[in-house]
Amino acid sequence: MPSPRERAIKPTDLRGILRYVPMFRDHVFVIAVDGAVVGHENFVNLVTDIAVLRSLAIKVVLVHGIGHQLSELAAEHRITPSDAHGEGPTDAPTMALAREAAALVSQTILEHLSQAGLRCAITNAVRATRTGVIKGRDHLFTGKVEKVDTALLTSMLGQDILPLVTPILCDREGQSLRVNSDHLAAELAVALGASKLIYLTPHPGLTVGGEVKVNLPEDELAALLADRRSGLEPRLRSKAQHAAFALDEGVPRAHILDGRVFGGLLIEIFDKVGLGTMVHANDYDRIRPARKKDAQSLYNLARHGARADALVARSRQQIEQSVADFVVYEIDDSIIGCAALRRFESQPALMEIGAVYVQPFYHGRGVGTKLVEFLKRKAKEAGARKLVALTTQTQGFFTGSCGFEEGSVADLPAQRRKELKASGRNSRVLTFPLSRFSGSPR
Ligand SMILES: CC(C)(COP(=O)(O)OP(=O)(O)OC[C@H]1O[C@@H](n2cnc3c(N)ncnc32)[C@H](O)[C@@H]1OP(=O)(O)O)[C@@H](O)C(=O)NCCC(=O)NCCS
Repeated sequence: MPSPRERAIKPTDLRGILRYVPMFRDHVFVIAVDGAVVGHENFVNLVTDIAVLRSLAIKVVLVHGIGHQLSELAAEHRITPSDAHGEGPTDAPTMALAREAAALVSQTILEHLSQAGLRCAITNAVRATRTGVIKGRDHLFTGKVEKVDTALLTSMLGQDILPLVTPILCDREGQSLRVNSDHLAAELAVALGASKLIYLTPHPGLTVGGEVKVNLPEDELAALLADRRSGLEPRLRSKAQHAAFALDEGVPRAHILDGRVFGGLLIEIFDKVGLGTMVHANDYDRIRPARKKDAQSLYNLARHGARADALVARSRQQIEQSVADFVVYEIDDSIIGCAALRRFESQPALMEIGAVYVQPFYHGRGVGTKLVEFLKRKAKEAGARKLVALTTQTQGFFTGSCGFEEGSVADLPAQRRKELKASGRNSRVLTFPLSRFSGSPR
């Protein structure tokens, strides 16, 4: 396996990365950096990676931890901290050290961000409340997130300002409380509808039996957390638990990786294999081939699409006859989206993606893109080399989100050209070379 340095993104890889720019443009990534990573010599490179993300129009919110610095300060002052990570009780001397550690870490981050030319601001956009008494133990100055001012954060992000959130938050009365940064980052990712929650740690990722788990579906993560003998290091367990929470609340991906590796953040996001652990929702479990008994639901979906003139009107009988071409996206046993893959007998290397429809309530959550990605994979496995899509209203979806390019009727087999002419729909023809499909970025 190549070393991370060998796999570091090269300028020549930019073409590859740029393909994914529309996919992540204006998406929010919440990045949580452990105190130990801020204190590491690679932090300067990490900030450069963040600057690259910003230049790709990805909106970054940065959260930092202080456990490492707090422990160092405690050793210097010969104080035994009541808890270094904001999970157990924080007594008054530990709280004083935590404030000092937070000031130190956030100032170091500001220095690096300034050097990289990134505009940023420390905010009080997150309000905390005391954790209170748990199992008879007063947690004193330990707090948890009560409320996220998403309007403030969104407005900062809209003005190209990177919000930096420290794990010392104020409560309603202006009292400072120590909050665990893993919890803070997960709450922020949920509140902001982030596409990614990224934990940068001094660990290679979640390991099972000594091996880093590169891809971890959320149900496997749940099993790992439930298994007390899994041997997860406590700091990683905390991240895994908060990642599971975020996924449960709708964040599609959480990453746990070593923040000390040169170029690691970009490798994790843009390399198909990645570097650390990516926890993902069990999306593909939700897509399945349509069955005969789905014909009525498919007919209903297609009817809604046809009403807006986005889809060709299909009779129930037509759908029954072509049901094997369809795949459906299911949530809680109800079909919320569909797409179809059509083969051409005269041209087996060409296939058509069509009838992509997602119920309006679920728009903008990645369902349409996943259906198309699923069919790209299916077409490639079936030996196709090129895909076409005919669209009247969603050219932007196919080109912007799914990587299709403008084509022409010359890309269609004669029979399909004839059908298109007869329909009078004047659809645009888009194409996608399957040589480009080798999976998606992480
Ligand atoms: C097009 C459609 C399938 C997209 O489904 P979806 O689940 O909302 O798509 P995703 O969430 O995966 O992707 C949404 C992205 O596509 C973009 N998009 C959606 N519809 C678009 C359109 N008509 N034009 C341009 N971009 C569009 C969104 O802005 C979003 O971009 P972002 O990721 O940068 O925010 C859905 O809007 C739909 O069912 N439309 C009606 C039926 C239709 O027109 N089907 C296509 C005929 S083949």
